[in-house]
Amino acid sequence: MIDIEAVTKRYSPNKRPAVDLLSLHVDSGEIFGFLGPNGAGKSTTIRMMVGLLRQDTGTIKVCGYDNIAQNVEMKRCIGYVPDEPLFYENMSGRKYLDFISDVFDIDLDTRIARIAKWAGRFSLIDALDDKISSYSRGMKQKLGVIAALIHDSRILVLDEPMVGLDPKSAFVLKEVMREFCNTGGTVFFSTHVMDVAERLCDTVGIINKGALIASGTFASLKESTGENQATLEQLFLELTDEEVETNDTHSRV
Ligand SMILES: Nc1ncnc2c1ncn2[C@@H]1O[C@H](COP(=O)(O)OP(=O)(O)OP(=O)(O)O)[C@@H](O)[C@H]1O
Ligand SMILES: [Mg+2]
Repeated sequence: MIDIEAVTKRYSPNKRPAVDLLSLHVDSGEIFGFLGPNGAGKSTTIRMMVGLLRQDTGTIKVCGYDNIAQNVEMKRCIGYVPDEPLFYENMSGRKYLDFISDVFDIDLDTRIARIAKWAGRFSLIDALDDKISSYSRGMKQKLGVIAALIHDSRILVLDEPMVGLDPKSAFVLKEVMREFCNTGGTVFFSTHVMDVAERLCDTVGIINKGALIASGTFASLKESTGENQATLEQLFLELTDEEVETNDTHSRV
């Protein structure tokens, strides 16, 4: 469903690549958790996957569509929640969802039903007619999630979706992500919350300095590291540990 093959992206020629020969594959019906330290390359990978950024080399296919050659077709099969959702703040939440529905050609009856369904689920109905500028961080995040769900896509891509959500909304979002996969969809999300990744994901990938350093089920990660009792947090810290390199750097200074 998602195929990333030897992808490299540099923002600047004299800096190391933000994403470095990254390959990964996510099957349909899976929840994939993308983990990595700050600056590891998660958002860069995600922006290429949803068709907002072009890689320098390598290929990306989502739902069989190439992210460059079939950019529009690919975007239509993805619901995307960015790390920092940007809105037209003067619009009401309802107007914004109407605008997104126009972009995806959703007919009137369907959009009314979907807006009611998702705004109900995320407890946003009472605020729908208020201007987005009056929304809290969490309310904006929920609006971004609803906007990604409104066109009933086959793939959901979420960049740190739990940020700003209260416990009930985070719980609802996790339920929605699981239901999305149970009905044949595929979820790809980045997170720093290891507990969420450990409990929710079918497979995880860990990226560090632009390169994928581990991927697979939590059980297979434990097996390959020989750490059978470890939590995902412990594995993550061990795999991304830079102490050796830092000491090495210090000794050279
Ligand atoms: N627009 C940009 N212009 C130049 N460099 C960028 C840009 N966006 C990201 N980078 C650089 O690319 C690298 C990867 O950044 P990216 O945002 O993909 O990381 P991330 O894994 O999403 O981090 P975080 O967990 O903090 O969100 C970093 O070194 C960052 O400084
Ligand atoms: Mg990021």
